[in-house]
Amino acid sequence: MGINYLIPKIKVSDTVVYQTSLFSSNDKIILAPLQNLTNYYFRQAYNKFFPNTIDYAITPFISANEGVEKENKAKFRDVWKKNNENCIDIIPQILGNKAEQVLSVAKILEQMGYRKVNINLGCPKKDVVNKHRGAGLLENVEEIDRIINEIMTKTKLQLSLKVRLGNKKNDELQSLIPTINKYPIDFVAIHARLAEQMYEGNVDVDSFQKLSAQIKTKVIYNGDIFSVEDFRRLKMRFPYVNDWMLGRGVLRNPFLCGEIRGIYFDKKQIYPQFFHQLLNNFMEYSKNDEVVVNKMKEYCKYFCVGLKKDSTKILHAVSLNQIVSEFETYL
Ligand SMILES: Cc1cc2nc3c(=O)[nH]c(=O)nc-3n(C[C@H](O)[C@H](O)[C@H](O)COP(=O)(O)O)c2cc1C
Repeated sequence: MGINYLIPKIKVSDTVVYQTSLFSSNDKIILAPLQNLTNYYFRQAYNKFFPNTIDYAITPFISANEGVEKENKAKFRDVWKKNNENCIDIIPQILGNKAEQVLSVAKILEQMGYRKVNINLGCPKKDVVNKHRGAGLLENVEEIDRIINEIMTKTKLQLSLKVRLGNKKNDELQSLIPTINKYPIDFVAIHARLAEQMYEGNVDVDSFQKLSAQIKTKVIYNGDIFSVEDFRRLKMRFPYVNDWMLGRGVLRNPFLCGEIRGIYFDKKQIYPQFFHQLLNNFMEYSKNDEVVVNKMKEYCKYFCVGLKKDSTKILHAVSLNQIVSEFETYL
């Protein structure tokens, strides 16, 4: 059988081990933003039990609206420095559709000590898209150009974008590419789907290939990496891509980034500890028991998919004790 030249080799003493996950020292894993899920209470718990498995995270978006921005507003809580100490490095994300408003949030983030920001051009929610925000802004290349220009000329921040292939057609991103290439953009993360697909249906890797080839700066692949096998398949298809963004895959299986890197954790021992940590972190965030129960149910929906367990019982739980004891039977 021939040896695939793509498989990175590691020399261990005088034995050569073929690392079958294809993950190389040039590859990076980036935690995708998932609003109300990959916030600091999750990142802190994750980092405690799975350190050094994620290179950095893009935070769930901070909305740029009318009005004076101040660091102490609740919407900045996720990126307050004290909430991110000794944790995964983050790049704050901004969602907006007016250059002045996005700039005003960016300036606050710069004052807080951040060096990078990411702009959300991918959110597919109907109410967001209808307001020409997120993926709804993709068609307004002129305003995107203004946003980029304002941030680049009025701050020292490095700017990156997170985009979809388009709203309804898989070539809509095409018209934004000349603008992207005009500026020294840090990177472009592409969720290889249309906004109208929301999170369903297949990712369109052919369009990702076609469009990413035209972008001069670094491109991050994003979409449906749920297993080591998914990662391997994508790495074989795009050996030149080194940056991989994972969202739901990490929630379904918090061990996945380690597995992709070839690091194995004792699931039975670590999963309950991680679960308790997440619960404790969220209880510090919200003192309201009902809110905590509902939040843990949100996470459990994802965990159950990864554990291949039916979530019905846990989703009917009425107390935290019930959630915890039910979850432990799944492991
Ligand atoms: C519940 C949820 C919330 C999300 N929130 C954000 C967000 O705040 N900003 C953003 O750019 N993308 C957001 N996304 C999209 C993800 O970052 C990611 O692009 C998408 O889930 C595809 O990656 P995955 O298949 O690895 O999950 C969200 C996705 C989900 C499911």
